[in-house]
Amino acid sequence: MEKVTKVADHEKLVKLLTVALEHEWAVSFEYIFHAYSMPKGTHFYQDPVLGQKTDIRAQTIQIGIDEMYHALQFGLVLKKMGISPSFKTDEVIRYPRIVDNLKRDKGTEDLVTALYQAAEFPEGRYPEVENMLWNISADEVRHGRQFQAMFETMTGEGAGEACCFKPDPQAERKEEVRLLHELTRMENEVVHRYLFYVFLFSEHQDLSQRLFKNSIDHMRHWDKNAGMLVQLGSVLRLENAELRPDGSERSVKPMPGLYPGTDRRSALETLIPAEDRLIALYEKAAGLVPPGDIRGQLSFHLAQNREHRFTQDSLLANALRIKGLK
Ligand SMILES: [Fe+2]
Ligand SMILES: [Fe+2]
Ligand SMILES: [Fe+2]
Repeated sequence: MEKVTKVADHEKLVKLLTVALEHEWAVSFEYIFHAYSMPKGTHFYQDPVLGQKTDIRAQTIQIGIDEMYHALQFGLVLKKMGISPSFKTDEVIRYPRIVDNLKRDKGTEDLVTALYQAAEFPEGRYPEVENMLWNISADEVRHGRQFQAMFETMTGEGAGEACCFKPDPQAERKEEVRLLHELTRMENEVVHRYLFYVFLFSEHQDLSQRLFKNSIDHMRHWDKNAGMLVQLGSVLRLENAELRPDGSERSVKPMPGLYPGTDRRSALETLIPAEDRLIALYEKAAGLVPPGDIRGQLSFHLAQNREHRFTQDSLLANALRIKGLK
């Protein structure tokens, strides 16, 4: 993570916000990957802020969601400054042992807290951004304390060697698992594609809020699909990852860096085929699994995507209805 301390002008501010955004995207994935690689309801710790015994996996997911909101805030500020926010990310790593992931997460939190707190602004130049950085850094301080308590508890209780899930090769060969991996990859892509349009239309509150709602729905689908992969004997895949000699996986491109569409019409037009593709894949996947929880969940995602398809058709038709709407 690059250090940007003296934020004296527009250029330096864009640099700082871009470094921050690349970090926030990375951790919004990394924590979800770490969480969905460990068992549910198995490792607990006493949370120093929540004041309760808490599931490490569940809290790691919650922190990942906080990071997504941080990314959204940085992206909106950049857009307001006339910059198209980047979806480039810092590297994402998954280690074989759970505690190594949690230690890495704690270290990342310390680094980013230092970045946000060390930024020096000329007095009164960017007061709102400065305030935002202090507010976000308070979340990062909390996250750091939470991750530290998690790995200290696991180590202290003799669970330091507990490993992340490994995909079962037999499960990987099943058609429904292959489809679910493809669906999960697409859900992740669509979450960010919708967010890109949230940035693009951030001055049009009606449209950006509608697109944001769909982005959140897709984030939930991504999250639920990751849980289903575990139930089927597999595990959430790190896109474009390399396997390193220590057994860890590293990716510098866990999501696409660019999304199509530059104006209202071209942006809205790209979402309809994306929703259609998701619908077709969910129909196929739901038909392959026996009646039960997994089929129920896949059918729920299918239904929500059909609703999105309806909404997107209307958004496009309504955008074309009004002359002069940019
Ligand atoms: Fe953050
Ligand atoms: Fe954080
Ligand atoms: Fe959708």
